[in-house]
Amino acid sequence: MIELFSRSLLALDIGSSSIKLIELSGGRQKKVRAMANISLPAGVVQNGVIKDPAAVQEQMREFFKANRILAFGRRVCVTLSGNAVLIKRVSLAPDKDKELAEQAYYAAEQHFQHSMNDLEFDFYNIGSLNERGESNVILVGAKREAIDGLIEIVHGNRMKIGVVEADVFALSNMFEHNYGTSETIMVLINVGASCTQVTLVWRGEYLYTREIAIGGNEYTRRLAEAMAVDAAAAEAAKIAVSTFSQDPSEVISRLLSETNDQLVSEIQTTISYYLQGTDNAAPGVPFTNAFLAGGACRVLGFEAALAATLQVPVGILNPFQNIQVNHRKFPADELAIDGQKYGVAVGLGLRNMGDKT
Ligand SMILES: Nc1ncnc2c1ncn2[C@@H]1O[C@H](COP(=O)(O)OP(=O)(O)OP(=O)(O)O)[C@@H](O)[C@H]1O
Ligand SMILES: [Mg+2]
Repeated sequence: MIELFSRSLLALDIGSSSIKLIELSGGRQKKVRAMANISLPAGVVQNGVIKDPAAVQEQMREFFKANRILAFGRRVCVTLSGNAVLIKRVSLAPDKDKELAEQAYYAAEQHFQHSMNDLEFDFYNIGSLNERGESNVILVGAKREAIDGLIEIVHGNRMKIGVVEADVFALSNMFEHNYGTSETIMVLINVGASCTQVTLVWRGEYLYTREIAIGGNEYTRRLAEAMAVDAAAAEAAKIAVSTFSQDPSEVISRLLSETNDQLVSEIQTTISYYLQGTDNAAPGVPFTNAFLAGGACRVLGFEAALAATLQVPVGILNPFQNIQVNHRKFPADELAIDGQKYGVAVGLGLRNMGDKT
């Protein structure tokens, strides 16, 4: 029997260094059907905003052709990140005169401090209540220009938008699928090329996120400057020492370690700021673990520096922990090194049409 419109969604995490593509199949037990990393030229995507949609579209088109991925007419899930999306968890007191949707809209106007005309607004009622009996709600505002950029690329490749998701929710979704929920606070840290997102979750609920403007590119930039080499050579040196295929020189060691310390300190401040602030929706709940995702979490010494400062166990996420992978198609040794890059894309791939955040 042919099932109409049952083809799975293609998940695309369009990052500043590459697009991560994932297609999952199956019901409860998911399987990876397709997985790929499509490199992007520097500068075409910056801080979550697609600066050059034509270049991204072309790169994708070439890739689909070379890998015989039939994208025509397919539905895709895409993410918004960085400056393109505003997210805030709030608690709204019951109000007999106003619908929750109306209350959420007014709360967003107040918290986002942004013209609501430039935003696509949505909200998600978590379903839980706080200790005052107020509804816990997540407000989401997506910048129209960022959504337009995504639509242009997707339509340009003759595909359709299925789901638009904030990447921090996709990452949390992936985490819950693979690691379950916890009674303590978990911190998910996605170290990308242009930035690092720190997201706090508790009992499977989103609490807070902040973006830090340091990612893999910053390490490369500093190395290039200190070693007086171009970005490609500095990038190669960073990867070589981080994958232990080369011993680091004194300069490389010092620069990576200084940048690690700076990023770690920002992460620590972010976590303490939330836990000690009046906005903390889980007061008194301990923070017990940190999980890493994103390509640059592999930078030499980063994981150890973070564990030493946070004083909790730190581990690298395996987005495929609870997902079947055919290792003849996707070798286990490659995934062991690179798998954490797909954290956001896997979370997106787990989504179904019509899901809400
Ligand atoms: N083994 C490794 N060791 C250290 N750094 C690595 C390694 N592999 C990849 N990286 C770095 O990871 C970054 C790319 O990671 P990722 O694909 O998660 O970023 P992105 O999603 O494109 O960026 P962003 O989310 O910031 O827009 C690059 O800076 C790259 O140099
Ligand atoms: Mg990314």
